[in-house]
Amino acid sequence: MALTVKALQGDIAAEVGGVDIAAGITPEIANEIETVLSKYIVIVLRNQQINDEQQQAFIQHFGPPVKTNAIKELEEATHRQPHLLDIATVDAQGKPLADKSFIKLYMLANQFWHTDGSQSQPPQRLTALSARRLPTVPPNTEYADMRAAWDALPALMQEKVEDLKAQHSIAYSRAKMGLSQDTFSAESLKNRPPVEHALVRKHPRSGRKSLYLSGHASHIVGWPEEEGRALLDELMAHAVQRQFVYAHQWQPNDLVMWDDSCSMHRALPYDAPEPRVLRWSGVRELQPV
Ligand SMILES: [Fe+2]
Repeated sequence: MALTVKALQGDIAAEVGGVDIAAGITPEIANEIETVLSKYIVIVLRNQQINDEQQQAFIQHFGPPVKTNAIKELEEATHRQPHLLDIATVDAQGKPLADKSFIKLYMLANQFWHTDGSQSQPPQRLTALSARRLPTVPPNTEYADMRAAWDALPALMQEKVEDLKAQHSIAYSRAKMGLSQDTFSAESLKNRPPVEHALVRKHPRSGRKSLYLSGHASHIVGWPEEEGRALLDELMAHAVQRQFVYAHQWQPNDLVMWDDSCSMHRALPYDAPEPRVLRWSGVRELQPV
């Protein structure tokens, strides 16, 4: 293996060396990265000073890139190319996002534990987030290992949830921040209808089972809504216990990549004036799950 792997925390996160995204990677390197990602859910590639074209070329090694223009309201401020999106405190012109604006509230919802792209079918599989502009003291991003959360569930609970499905939607997760359905255009809602996913998944490479939860998950399919929501809340509280969580401390030019099929993550609060820009990209699963 050409890559070097240094565990950062148990089998949750590792630092991976030997990758130069700016120079371009080979399919063999991409496959090695996939192998590392089947052991660790989060990998950190340091010192990746890259531009948009290089990020886009990198992510395309891992599958069909996720289109970032489905939600039309995000386009003006944060949409870069069809496959890149800024998770940022400022807009494309460098101006701070206005309080109570759609974009600011949309981004604030990233502080809820969630899984990128669970509101789509097929859902997102991997995310690659590039630190383009960091404040002096950047807030951490936290990741929860949903394989460990599954393993630690009592057997009775595992049996109860094993064959369930949950409904996920962007409208549900954003309503928590006060973004009601009317704040989305008809086109955005049409692009992102509610979808259903299995609550328990098995990783195709590692064979490990994991819970598939998200802030986008509203209820259990076929159950009364309140009961389903209560079960999801219980599973969420279980899954984000500190022993399952890695807190990533950002360094300049980090590219952090993670497996969305078996992890959740959240942004920690940050409202200082120094801008923060993380450039987001991802690939989706080939089949519905
Ligand atoms: Fe996210």
